[in-house]
Amino acid sequence: MAALLCFCALISAVCCAPLIETQPEQVHVSYPGEISLFMIDSCQSKQRQTVVVFIPIIFWLSVVEYGLWGGKLFSHTAEGDASVFIDGGPENRTMYVHRVTLTDLTPAASYVYHCGSDAGWSDIFYFTSLNESVSFSPRFALFGDMGNENPQSLSRLQKETQMGMYDVILHIGDFAYDMHEDNGRIGDEFMRQIQSIAAYTPYMTCPGNHEWAYNFSHYRSRFSMPGHTENLWYSWNIGPAHIISFSTEVYFYLEYGLDLLFRQYDWLQADLQEANRPENRAQRPWIITMGHRPMYCSNDDGDDCTHFQSYVRLGRNDTKPIAPGLEDLFYQYGVDLELWAHEHTYERLWPVYDYKVFNGSSEEPYVNPKAPVHIITGSAGCREKHDGFIPKPRDWSAFRSTDYGYTRMRLINGTHLYLEQVSDDQVALACVCVSVCLFVCVCVSE
Ligand SMILES: [Fe+2]
Repeated sequence: MAALLCFCALISAVCCAPLIETQPEQVHVSYPGEISLFMIDSCQSKQRQTVVVFIPIIFWLSVVEYGLWGGKLFSHTAEGDASVFIDGGPENRTMYVHRVTLTDLTPAASYVYHCGSDAGWSDIFYFTSLNESVSFSPRFALFGDMGNENPQSLSRLQKETQMGMYDVILHIGDFAYDMHEDNGRIGDEFMRQIQSIAAYTPYMTCPGNHEWAYNFSHYRSRFSMPGHTENLWYSWNIGPAHIISFSTEVYFYLEYGLDLLFRQYDWLQADLQEANRPENRAQRPWIITMGHRPMYCSNDDGDDCTHFQSYVRLGRNDTKPIAPGLEDLFYQYGVDLELWAHEHTYERLWPVYDYKVFNGSSEEPYVNPKAPVHIITGSAGCREKHDGFIPKPRDWSAFRSTDYGYTRMRLINGTHLYLEQVSDDQVALACVCVSVCLFVCVCVSE
């Protein structure tokens, strides 16, 4: 019992340009859940993480005051630490990231908090600590490619988050467009924009190509995901699912080190092996991946996913040694659902492996599918607007939409998972269901 109560939360903060403001801003929270199955430090592996970003700070104290919702306000205090982040642009702007970990949280309890110091405090926010039961049915909002300009889905996400509709938000790469621009001020502004959702609901991420600048330094510095890879790849557990986040960008930005690609591949293989140990898979039968650039898509823009020889799917044969792709690995270890973005559209695939469809049956294609199901949801809105599709979809393409929007997902239990796609261009929804029995419901506006 004592071990079960070893819960923690990390609160961090970033401070920007040395103005006179001493109030925190860009507050956001995240948590690792039970994180990597091979974490050696068991206390760390039970940690709950809350990340708070403060701005301009001249002092180094990082404090979060918090308490149970309905209880005595700010009955607990936690201190963290600050780190310096220097943007790589011509101004070399200095930012300060503050992280604080909250420990001994009651599972599935709501907390009220603020962050700062006697020099200035943030607004009051609230979050719910992780429910670690495998029978928990978590609700997700997920999307990619949301920018500072034209974030079409943000207002709906703000309202729905405030209504308590989500337990987790997944942002599948491409933030702000781009966080490094204007010497990092676009990143600051974007983080202020998403504070309205990310200060209340854990905001879990993976890197996209728009984070490329200065070796992904803004992405590495501004977020705090599980593990020790500066957010590049990690895994965590929630309810009946094991969720794996990884970087597709290691296949494209070789100048930052081919070794990253191999280190990630080895980690993915080990993580999938562990998640597939019978006792682990029995507890968490769903294995879900999230990465930015998809293996498949039927867009008309010539991106990697439009090619049969997709780097992400099949690897690269122009490197020494040859770089392995991910499709065989994910198929071999029974990944159920693969979440992608990058294309500014929505596309749902039939269960697919090696360009072939492996439906459960013709009547119920998503019931006991024989290959992973892919969802591409990169249409949350950005300055690049929409992408287009080729006129005739491939056999593996089940549904396509160019509407702005995002995806809702609920892990109902160990056999049923529900997905629906929300259109920000149209109000009505349409659905699909998968079950593992993979029971997937996908709803899309029609
Ligand atoms: Fe992208």
